Amino acid sequence: MKVDYLRISLIDRCNFRCQYCLPQETELDQILGPELLTEAEILQLLQEVFIPLGFSRFRLTGGEPLLRPGVVDLVRAIASLPQTQDLAMTTNGFRLPALAEDLYGAGLRRLNISLDSLRPEVFAQIVGGGANRWAQVWAGIMAAYRLGFAPLKLNVVVIPGLNDQEVLDLAALTLDYPWHVRFIEFMPIGNSTLFGERGWVPSAELRRQIRDRWGLEPAQVLGNGPADVFQMPNAQGTLGFISQMSECFCQRCNRLRLSADGWLRPCLLNETGQIDLKTPLRQGQALQDLRAQVAELLVHKAQINFEQRDAGTAGGVYTRTMSQIGG
Ligand code: GTP
Ligand code: 5AD
Ligand code: SF4
Repeated sequence: MKVDYLRISLIDRCNFRCQYCLPQETELDQILGPELLTEAEILQLLQEVFIPLGFSRFRLTGGEPLLRPGVVDLVRAIASLPQTQDLAMTTNGFRLPALAEDLYGAGLRRLNISLDSLRPEVFAQIVGGGANRWAQVWAGIMAAYRLGFAPLKLNVVVIPGLNDQEVLDLAALTLDYPWHVRFIEFMPIGNSTLFGERGWVPSAELRRQIRDRWGLEPAQVLGNGPADVFQMPNAQGTLGFISQMSECFCQRCNRLRLSADGWLRPCLLNETGQIDLKTPLRQGQALQDLRAQVAELLVHKAQINFEQRDAGTAGGVYTRTMSQIGG
């Protein structure tokens, strides 16, 4: 599988406390300002390390990427690189009412926004904070839609007893809007206590419910991720299913992840093989050496996956939670 998709975490802080991502009580050991890769360092790594190795698709993640100071300028800079074929962002949407227009102006066209519920109280229960959060995220989605962001995708992590009763309502959004709703199987990363209590719902079960009600056919939408895409007859948008629990998609993994503090990670669920790019960059190591290290990591990437994950977690390796890796 050609690895040409880089997920770049811009900041590990988040203004939400999604139950599936962060346990409520965690005092996260958050990265301090000077530890963050600067805009110039990110661009240098893209131009001198990743693009020469064939990377052309980039996704900005967090924490919450829209909390990063200067995010609009960074989007503009990456969107303007001639080799950038696709630039997207995964966000909780809370700051979109303020920033969507500037992001569009800077060249961003593709947003994936988390929307776990259509009910403000349930939403607040899942993401934390007050009941006004839902309305602000919805306003952000609408702002992005009106500006022309497309494909516009909504991410739903399905959690038994919290939002699994809303699957049909969320799917029905694609009848009314040209949006792409994706149901994500809850993974035991981030908050494994909640996972132990609630469990997860297989995508096949969700597809059965939707098919019984409306029918469902295979479809396609622009994207680089692991979603299996379907569509209900006469819908404007599509439905995606991200099924990392019931189906292993490690064989088609096409991405690396760069953390906000400059570590490169070959697998979301396995700590093995990570390399620190920031320290050597700041010490003035030649960029071609860094490129050689990343090329070497790419050679071994296929062996570093979900099944092999236990091999990598022992022994003082760099550990990061879901919110810090950016999904
Ligand atoms: P598109 O380019 O639009 O297809 O984006 P995407 O699906 O890659 O991006 P997004 O950030 O919306 O990812 C949605 C979710 O898919 C993530 O939060 C993860 O839960 C899951 N996911 C994405 N990549 C991986 C991966 O490499 N491994 C696993 N296990 N899950 C992943
Ligand atoms: N299981 C599945 N998806 C998760 N995300 C965060 N934590 C989990 C988890 N435990 C997803 C969110 C968001 C992305 C950044 O990560 O839905 O779309
Ligand atoms: Fe929720 Fe994303 Fe923040 Fe995690 S990083 S708490 S998934 S908004």
